Amino acid sequence: MNQYVTGAAIKELREKNNLTQLQLAEKIGVSDKTVSKWETAKGYPDITLLEPIAEALHVSVTELISGKTIDNLNVSSNMLRSKFYVCPICGNVIHSMGESVIHCHGILLSPMEAETSDERHMIFIERIEDEYYVRIDHTMTKEHYISFVAAVSSGDMQVVKLYPEQNPEVRFKIRGVKKIYYYCNRDGLFSIDVVKGIDDREKSYDDHHERMELEKTAKKLFG
Ligand SMILES: [Fe+2]
Repeated sequence: MNQYVTGAAIKELREKNNLTQLQLAEKIGVSDKTVSKWETAKGYPDITLLEPIAEALHVSVTELISGKTIDNLNVSSNMLRSKFYVCPICGNVIHSMGESVIHCHGILLSPMEAETSDERHMIFIERIEDEYYVRIDHTMTKEHYISFVAAVSSGDMQVVKLYPEQNPEVRFKIRGVKKIYYYCNRDGLFSIDVVKGIDDREKSYDDHHERMELEKTAKKLFG
């Protein structure tokens, strides 16, 4: 872990709870001088004190360490708000349905922002029976490859892990898929909105520009 509770976080949460340094100190069994030291970055609370401090400040230990309070927004109802985290050391892929504090190999991971597909990461989607056949135009060498593709609907997610030397093509059950994400180990996360009338055709486009034009037209027609 490369992050520990900061004095600024303790101070902010203490003030939010309308506690003086002395009141907080009494709750956790230390002196007000000690609390003052933490808040002015002259010392850190012992790890055994994290739980009592978190309890006194009405947050979880995770929130205390991250310095951010997390509101329970019940995001579990919508997979379309999915966030992906990838560890740059081991390539581990972590999925979350909302903001989380995630560490892997000692690194605090940030959720990846998905870019729209570009010329170097072209994606082609067509329907084969009740499945989407998805192909990505990209190299699959050990150094530069597509490492996973995910199809997300409001209620579920299908993820396929890919490895170097494999073909960058996958199949997903159509059932309500609204968005497809794919991850390049060098260039990051990309996504495309699956558009009715384009991507559910059996013979699809075979040119990236044509797809973009079709998408514009479909958005005008179907909103
Ligand atoms: Fe790439």
